[in-house]
Amino acid sequence: MDLFEYQARDIFAKHGVPVLAGEVIETPEAAREAAERLGGRAVVKAQVKTGGRGKAGGVKLAADPDDAVVKAGQILGMDIKGHTVHKVMLAQTADIAEEYYVSFLLDRTNRTFLAMASVEGGMEIEEVAATKPEALAKVPVDANEGVTEAKAREIVKAARFPEEVAEQVAQTLVTLWDVFVKEDATLVEVNPLVKTGDGKIIALDGKVTLDANADFRHADHAELEDKAAADPLEAAAKAKDLNYVKLDGEVGIIGNGAGLVMSTLDVVAYAGEAHGGVKPANFLDIGGGASAEVMANGLEIILGDPAVKSVFVNVFGGITACDAVANGIVQALELLQSKGEEVTKPLVVRLDGNNAEEGRRILTEANHPLVQQVDTMDGAAERAAELAAAAV
Ligand SMILES: Nc1ncnc2c1ncn2[C@@H]1O[C@H](COP(=O)(O)OP(=O)(O)O)[C@@H](O)[C@H]1O
Ligand SMILES: [Mg+2]
Repeated sequence: MDLFEYQARDIFAKHGVPVLAGEVIETPEAAREAAERLGGRAVVKAQVKTGGRGKAGGVKLAADPDDAVVKAGQILGMDIKGHTVHKVMLAQTADIAEEYYVSFLLDRTNRTFLAMASVEGGMEIEEVAATKPEALAKVPVDANEGVTEAKAREIVKAARFPEEVAEQVAQTLVTLWDVFVKEDATLVEVNPLVKTGDGKIIALDGKVTLDANADFRHADHAELEDKAAADPLEAAAKAKDLNYVKLDGEVGIIGNGAGLVMSTLDVVAYAGEAHGGVKPANFLDIGGGASAEVMANGLEIILGDPAVKSVFVNVFGGITACDAVANGIVQALELLQSKGEEVTKPLVVRLDGNNAEEGRRILTEANHPLVQQVDTMDGAAERAAELAAAAV
């Protein structure tokens, strides 16, 4: 999960990274009092989860509280790379002497953590990275050792930070590493990290990505989620503990096991090419023990997606045998019916593996008008694509 700048700022403050005071507001009028509390002058900053806000006009200096209202009015509602600005942060102004760049990230390619740092930070850092790679120091960080003071000095040296800030930057790196580890982040980036006119080091902009796999260790991370921006179907699926990802096609997919679902997406996309280009509408893995309830929850989410025109239920019976899954499908359809949710979209079911014959018999016997069975995965994908194309 990517955080907004103001959330990164709060987390930095909590761990002792030097930041400036800031307040988040959602209406231009609220900018007046916020600016007054911050001492009159303030920087008004769009809060959107994308970079380059400064270049897009989403970071503006306000000379006084009246000006803050004007600037907030200009920025609120602005579109920055497809992100609408709903919130702005008013921050104290820094007297910037120099802008640096520092970050820690999970380097998946090299299976390690990586520190990056440059004394040429600021809004042109991408340009610097592309045209002057020698100006961006990259130092691997061993997961077991982390960023000790010695490691921090190594990073500072590699990036050639000026002597007078070396110690402060090193301390800030140690603290930022603390943020990275304690918050279970996969990215902590500060750009710019500034040196002020009186020689202080301050983090002026922060980008933090939290590792959702570690959410169970951080009850407080749940409230950082931007619920307004979440896809409503994904949010509903999450509330039901389903492994669901919304995609942009027309064929709803349910399968058991992530690998099987992934390959189902492929065969449906392939089959769809011959049917006007219909594509999978989602990823949904109902896992091993596909109970009627889980099946019903899954079907409910998928059938509730207006883009879905047909559904492909692809099950390979293992520990949970096909007869149990077939019963699950029958009960799920009854459950939905009893909730008054009329099922109107065709379901193509392919059962294979443990007790497949018995599973197929159960479905045949139930004789649901919308359920069709196809014995092979390719055949079922073909049929589901054909039905979706016919309904588009
Ligand atoms: N509190 C601040 N005081 C003074 N200048 C700031 C402040 N915050 C940002 N800036 C200036 O605005 C530039 C862009 O802001 P930043 O927060 O880095 O947004 P982005 O990276 O999205 O462009 C910074 O490089 C810095 O020069
Ligand atoms: Mg920045």
